[in-house]
Amino acid sequence: MKKNWKARAAVSMALAAFAGAAYAGGEAGIAQRVEALLRQMTIEEKAGQLNQLSGKAFSTGPNSEAVRNVERDIRSGKVGSMLNIKGVADTRRVQALALQSRLHIPLLFGLDVIHGYQTVFPVPLGEAASWDLEAIEESARIAAREAAASGIHWTFAPMVDIGRDPRWGRVMEGAGEDTYLGARIAVARVRGFQGAQLGGTASVMATAKHFAGYGAAIAGRDYNAVDMSEHQLYETYLPPFKAALDAGAATFMNAFNTLNGVPATGNAMLQREILKGKWGFKGFVVSDWGSVREMVVHGYANDLTDAAAKAITAGSDMDMESNAYASSLPALVKSGKVDIAVVDDAVRRVLTKKFELGLFEDPYRFSSAAREREALNDPRHRQAARRIAAESMVLLKNEGGALPLRRGLHSIAVIGPLADARRDLEGGWIVQSNAAKMASLVDAVRERAGQGVRVDYAAGCDVACRGNEGFDAALKAASAADVVVLAVGESWDMSGEAKSRAHLGLPGRQGELFEALRAAGKTPVVVIMAGRPLIFENVAEQAKAILYAWHPGSEGGHAIADVLFGDVNPSAKLPMTFPRNMGQIPITYQQYNTGRPVQDEKNVVYKSAYIDSPNTPRYAFGHGLSYTTFAYKDLRVSNPSMGPDGKITLSFTLANSGPVAGAEVVQLYLRDPVASVVRPLKELKGFQRVVLQPGQVRTVSFTVDREMLAFYDRQLQWGAEAGKFEVMVGSASDDIRLRQTIELTEP
Ligand code: NOJ
Repeated sequence: MKKNWKARAAVSMALAAFAGAAYAGGEAGIAQRVEALLRQMTIEEKAGQLNQLSGKAFSTGPNSEAVRNVERDIRSGKVGSMLNIKGVADTRRVQALALQSRLHIPLLFGLDVIHGYQTVFPVPLGEAASWDLEAIEESARIAAREAAASGIHWTFAPMVDIGRDPRWGRVMEGAGEDTYLGARIAVARVRGFQGAQLGGTASVMATAKHFAGYGAAIAGRDYNAVDMSEHQLYETYLPPFKAALDAGAATFMNAFNTLNGVPATGNAMLQREILKGKWGFKGFVVSDWGSVREMVVHGYANDLTDAAAKAITAGSDMDMESNAYASSLPALVKSGKVDIAVVDDAVRRVLTKKFELGLFEDPYRFSSAAREREALNDPRHRQAARRIAAESMVLLKNEGGALPLRRGLHSIAVIGPLADARRDLEGGWIVQSNAAKMASLVDAVRERAGQGVRVDYAAGCDVACRGNEGFDAALKAASAADVVVLAVGESWDMSGEAKSRAHLGLPGRQGELFEALRAAGKTPVVVIMAGRPLIFENVAEQAKAILYAWHPGSEGGHAIADVLFGDVNPSAKLPMTFPRNMGQIPITYQQYNTGRPVQDEKNVVYKSAYIDSPNTPRYAFGHGLSYTTFAYKDLRVSNPSMGPDGKITLSFTLANSGPVAGAEVVQLYLRDPVASVVRPLKELKGFQRVVLQPGQVRTVSFTVDREMLAFYDRQLQWGAEAGKFEVMVGSASDDIRLRQTIELTEP
């Protein structure tokens, strides 16, 4: 009997190791070990577990006072987690300090691995444009593998904030404007980072951030207040968080903003009622950088001690870089201002993750020099980065088949401030730049065009493009070329955190460079690199072809060339609406009809309209062209109506009606035309990426059930109301090809 038990245990240990949960001993086992440890801890040690410090101090030199202080605190158990320390050597050295503490509790190492570690993938908004959930999961997997091999346990990603205001620089880090697409991408990213289960040494813990509402900063100004109805919060901003939680996100990060007057960090409604209450979240919440301390600046707390009390009581478990918990919690508990049960709950949550990661068995298990070498030099990672970057680029315009570049060209001029960029290809939030090893667009065009083709390059100006002194050289390079490619847009540091912009045009005189080329009879094919939607009306009107490449990552140069030369047929679709002008912002395809909709753009008198701009965007959500064409036909429904537990299957045929193979992202939108709370004209409810050879035809199906018709009513109850619904299938939110009406009947 005993022998059997042992044999079984050995097998299950081996299986668990394979699955990455080597040390779990099951949930109950971990819970017991957490309690045993908690019983031994002093209040100072408990506060220490909730204290996260930055390793930035270490860059000031090993012997600085700041470093000595942090090292001392780690040794005395006053630090539970570090951020911004990476690499096997450093994480090992710092972990060793934690093991000298009385209870030998290992540190958690967290880092912003946002779109890759060493191998840089497109910025998250760009990658979202692929609408390819497998590719998105794969890029997060690769980032996790590289980071985890370098000693990292935890990434502060994905950012799942909905962004409808391109002035806000952090739209770059998210998945765009749409709740449904955002939720699906949140799941893919969490799965990619975390793998099947925590504890695998090729995985890191994910963080769903920033909880919540951060993307709705007033006027798109970073860190600004957020004021929104609970209805909008529930319907638009929370679902991607809930999806991340359901996918197993180990941690959440709260946010810098106030939400309806209460800082997210001190917001019990968000963290206690919704996240840990209604949703039953078992992981822990980390504050944003200094956001506990910032509650004083907001005018919500008297001082750091008051801020600590308010944050922990509201459900912020770990304090990132405010040093509020470590300095104040012991006294707050002793004086009875903070209940020890609240602290214990937070500590339990943090310790549980350390156990789940297997750190108590081997605190160095994520820091393996051999694994680091192997993971950071795996050529498959760069191949994936190239493929995913090419899949992320949106062909906005292609008049007269200007792209792909025709065969038999003798000379190409690659012009523009981003034509020879390397660092800018990577975009913001990168961990370790590899720019020297990267191919710029000019390099990649030279490589691809081959020996017989002359490739000239001239920048014209730098990204800021304040002067036009370089334009003549650019015109000269262009003058002899069969085709001109112009690469313009933002530098890597123009979008991201604290990079709000009040003007979203191409920087400086970049637009004039385009005009100058056009005036010289050399209208270029335009490649735009940016971390957000930009406004470029003259280019949109006059260029024949525009490829929106975002900041495409380590392999961005090659990937752009792959698309320009037609080696890859573009298939990406915009995850955010591109406005025509600043006045249209914030903007989303999820418009309401209003009582005065515009039916005819020529007659907008007393309509819900601008008198000086169309309502329609420059490029709509879901827009993106291909080198082939797709025909949508014959929408059929399995049954025109359904009861509350019923389903309706929609099917239609999709044909590749053009000359080359391609992928079409077919989009399913729904509208509830009459409801107790008015509904948007369209809401995305499904999509599929379908790859077809020329001439190939495929039946595509979607299943509609009651859940897809549901919304939050005025009491914030989720449910569907009986009645008619419009179903729309199309190639973009403004390019609906097939429609049907279906009905949900009363129970
Ligand atoms: C502030 C940012 O808002 C957050 O997203 C990030 O994870 C932290 N800094 C840590 O770098």
